[in-house]
Amino acid sequence: MLIKTRNQGFQHPVSSEITNPAVYLERRHILKQLATGVAGAAMASWAARQAMAQSSPWGSRPGKLAALNFQTSKVDAAVTMEKVTPYKDASTYNNFYEFGTDKADPAVNAHTLKTSPWSVEIEGLVKKPGKWALEDLLKLSPMEERIYRLRCVEGWSMVVPWVGYSLAELVKRVEPLGSAKYVEFVTLADPKTMPFVGSRVLEWPYVEGLRLDEAMHPLTLLTFGMYGEVLPKQNGAPVRLIVPWKYGFKSGKSIVKIRFTEKQPGTAWNKAAANEYGFYSNVNPNVDHPRWSQATERRIGEDGLFTKKRKTLMFNGYEAQVGQLYAGMDLKKFY
Ligand code: MTE
Repeated sequence: MLIKTRNQGFQHPVSSEITNPAVYLERRHILKQLATGVAGAAMASWAARQAMAQSSPWGSRPGKLAALNFQTSKVDAAVTMEKVTPYKDASTYNNFYEFGTDKADPAVNAHTLKTSPWSVEIEGLVKKPGKWALEDLLKLSPMEERIYRLRCVEGWSMVVPWVGYSLAELVKRVEPLGSAKYVEFVTLADPKTMPFVGSRVLEWPYVEGLRLDEAMHPLTLLTFGMYGEVLPKQNGAPVRLIVPWKYGFKSGKSIVKIRFTEKQPGTAWNKAAANEYGFYSNVNPNVDHPRWSQATERRIGEDGLFTKKRKTLMFNGYEAQVGQLYAGMDLKKFY
């Protein structure tokens, strides 16, 4: 993003747990079998796992989401079959500026984040505003596992099995008014537990936004887990968004408020540098960032000095699913 990492020489840890796709798919299958019909019991153990995750030293994993009611993804057509990024890479190479600007900082610092109790406030232009406890959000709809590419504006990408359900399930439940055109996502900004909140890197809280139709698109995932487990804190526990056809910064972490508005919300990166980070931020190899090309990307966990970069795909490869949302729009202007 705007800020260069302090530690230019940072090497991704060599993963000792690269998941062979066959082993991974088998694990998914077992998870799904384990999952059937036990969502209720899951809620009690969720609290226990959250407590455990809170006291866990860096390096340990937060625990299984297995008891949640996994379903085969309804949007399987959009799920990539590319090799999944090793867990270790996806959970130690992060952007979460509330915990530092170096890629390694969030995994080291985010243990202070308190993820329980947690609630998400629904505000603004809806018939049913109110506060949702995390436990109720978890029960709102069956969980799906979706293997999505996430492409960061900085030129790297990863492939992660995220766990959650379409944000549309929640949006429908709160009944947006006819005047609602946008959805704003406000994330936690707690200076007591987030050491970099208060730094001048960005305006806090970190805020992101989508058009209502983007928020309703089935690919937009309200995300509670990854790799069949509770989200690690550094990846945005206990609830974050994944918008796979947009640059990673649109996918806000540790969400506390969802607000429905008539006007386009101001967003953290757009406020920091409007000429570099637009509201739409659709992955687009044909529109360069003012300071670098967006035509290629480096896959996290695969990078040797001589590894060939991959070509970045229009809408991050999800053009067939989302292209029509932008029909007739000048994507150079609405970047
Ligand atoms: N959410 C918050 N609250 N704070 C952040 O700094 N960084 C964004 C996004 N969500 C960020 C955030 C950016 S730039 C990216 S690329 C993704 O989170 C990274 O998600 P990951 O660490 O799970 O890969």
